[in-house]
Amino acid sequence: MLSGRKILLIVSGSVAAYKVLEFTRLARKAGASVTAILTAGGARFVTKEALAAITGQAVHDDLWAAEADIGHIRLARLPDLVLVAPASADLLAKMTHGLADDLATCVLLATRAPIMVAPAMNPAMWENPATQANIATLRARGIMLAGPEVGAMAEPESGPGRLIEPAALLATVEAALTPTAQPLKGRHVLVTSGPTHEPIDPVRYIANRSSGKQGHAIAAALAALGARVTLVSGPVAQPDPKGVTVRRVESARDMLAACEAALPADVAICAAAVADWRSAAAADQKMKKIAGEVPPPIALALNPDILATLSATGPHRPKLVVGFAAETEKLEEHARAKRRKKGCDWIVANDVSGDVMGGAENTVLLITPKGTEAWPRMKKEDVAAKLAARIAEALA
Ligand code: CTP
Repeated sequence: MLSGRKILLIVSGSVAAYKVLEFTRLARKAGASVTAILTAGGARFVTKEALAAITGQAVHDDLWAAEADIGHIRLARLPDLVLVAPASADLLAKMTHGLADDLATCVLLATRAPIMVAPAMNPAMWENPATQANIATLRARGIMLAGPEVGAMAEPESGPGRLIEPAALLATVEAALTPTAQPLKGRHVLVTSGPTHEPIDPVRYIANRSSGKQGHAIAAALAALGARVTLVSGPVAQPDPKGVTVRRVESARDMLAACEAALPADVAICAAAVADWRSAAAADQKMKKIAGEVPPPIALALNPDILATLSATGPHRPKLVVGFAAETEKLEEHARAKRRKKGCDWIVANDVSGDVMGGAENTVLLITPKGTEAWPRMKKEDVAAKLAARIAEALA
């Protein structure tokens, strides 16, 4: 229920804007009050009069009129939630860059209330790397995402980008406004993420294809359950997850040192794709190629195993140590062997023969002393949330 909750609804330009009238009706029926801001684009698709009638309040659409009337700062302070629905690609881009050139964007910048966006746009616009980068940045800043759904568009086209349906949007808003349990409050969790870079000389290094998406999502999911999270990350392009302490490192040896410095921890999760080998003697100066000479061999040395080190018994061994197993064949068999060899408690096994490394989705097996669970293919954020929930259960 939403009794007494105040929603500030920002309606931007999309043909799907008509759906927010139904959402508003449902939200008010559930006990919420809804105050609406209509952007110039939004006004092309839904009228101010319709929104005023359905919210039962005056609609705000002009920065300067709002200044004379209630003021954008006061509007920004009013709500329990600012909901941008539909959120156009343009408004999402403005939010990403902190533009404030109309009432909606000023309020979005001035508010301290949680913000949720419900995108609606053509599938090509949604899938465009610019929009995806904006969404990733907004999510990393803690802005919540509702939808979009996959389905038919106004144009004869189908794909991701449809505004979430009113009832589903209401459920998402209700979930966001219901205080979440913080089962991991008071727990310290150490997470490793990303690749490591092992120098060959000052300009060259050995690395792998890890993007850090899965490890960073795990850190964010644990923080959302109230854990204090230290994320030790190799070089990645991922933004720092909100509310997480991030230690950035380059090599496996630096990663181990940062992990040991972060102990004690209740839980350690090694999601990093640590380079197994480094150059045995990295050159101090750039290695030169000499015409006609045989290329120099690179002698390799074995890197320390961070997961095995953290799993080893000792006063600082975390209660629960979780490793990952990246395999291209015999997934379960190799992962089980890895769990025994490394001494960790659980292993999350993933088949990296396809597009998992760097991709958005993952199909994993969770191997614990109790047995093996096969999880369906899902977004890396959902794997992270499920794993965080399982960890909270195990520590309860
Ligand atoms: N790992 C680690 N330190 C290393 C190598 C791996 O902490 N030097 C961790 C990874 O973070 C992961 C687990 O060990 O949690 C397994 O990593 P994976 O790359 O699958 O296995 P390897 O140990 O490298 O073994 P192999 O390359 O033979 O599969």
